[in-house]
Amino acid sequence: MTLEFVESMKNLKVRNDDVFLVTYPKSGTIWTQQILSLITSEGHRNGTEKINTNERVPWLEFPQLNENIDHNSRPSPRMFVSHLSEAFVPRELKNKKGKVIYVMRNPKDVMKSFYHFQDIAVLAEKSPNFDHFFEKFLDGEVYAGKWFDHVRGWYTHKNDYNILFLKYEDMIKDLRSTVKKVCSFLGIKLDDEAMDIVVKKASFKEMKNDPLANKDNMPEDLIDKKLGSFMRKGQVGDWKNLMTVAQNETFDKIFQEKMGDLSLNFTWQI
Ligand code: A3P
Repeated sequence: MTLEFVESMKNLKVRNDDVFLVTYPKSGTIWTQQILSLITSEGHRNGTEKINTNERVPWLEFPQLNENIDHNSRPSPRMFVSHLSEAFVPRELKNKKGKVIYVMRNPKDVMKSFYHFQDIAVLAEKSPNFDHFFEKFLDGEVYAGKWFDHVRGWYTHKNDYNILFLKYEDMIKDLRSTVKKVCSFLGIKLDDEAMDIVVKKASFKEMKNDPLANKDNMPEDLIDKKLGSFMRKGQVGDWKNLMTVAQNETFDKIFQEKMGDLSLNFTWQI
């Protein structure tokens, strides 16, 4: 990703049937990419079963991950995935052209997932221990900056966009309801059989065993599989196994200061 490229994407011509999946990292991005590609292929993935998730729903800001894809010449309907902040996405989205799906996850689990991801992400700057990473995460010295700013930016500008908010924890609690919500937002009707297939193929177990859906076949210079799996645990509340009581109190205080005025509730454990 280069700054020039991101700048150029601000002027991307948005089409009415474009769908942009946007997340802060570690919030359920690949999961929702999988859900979207399953829904749009009606669960059967006609032909798409041999295609990587990153190709089915290509990155807006990382063209190099898709053989330098030119978004302008892609056929409709297009789907995109992005970690960009609200201020950096194509401007035309603000005219309610196209659709945005924003997925968020409770930030304590995001932090835990991010901490482990640094182990396998070859290009990531590693933290020597969690205490170090805790500070780094709060300071926004990680890819995509501060979680608080990312979520706040999208949430407070929600009226500018044709946007659906999803929460990772709701997906864990009831995936079928989430799939239905997405279908209704996209104006797609699935019969019961197709719905069953989407829910099954988007389960943690199925995705963990499908190298096309779980990044296992990402190039070794990006992901070092010997050090861990991208599909790590897929749970709510795993932060409790890492954060100290003091860190938790600090986090709660900062969360309250930065997000307390928003009507945003998170499920911290199940
Ligand atoms: P953990 O590290 O907590 O296990 P992203 O794709 O945004 O980077 O998010 C990765 C996180 O989503 C990882 O969390 C991964 O295990 C989880 N995830 C991916 N697919 C999932 C699924 N089908 N069900 C539950 N969690 C999933």
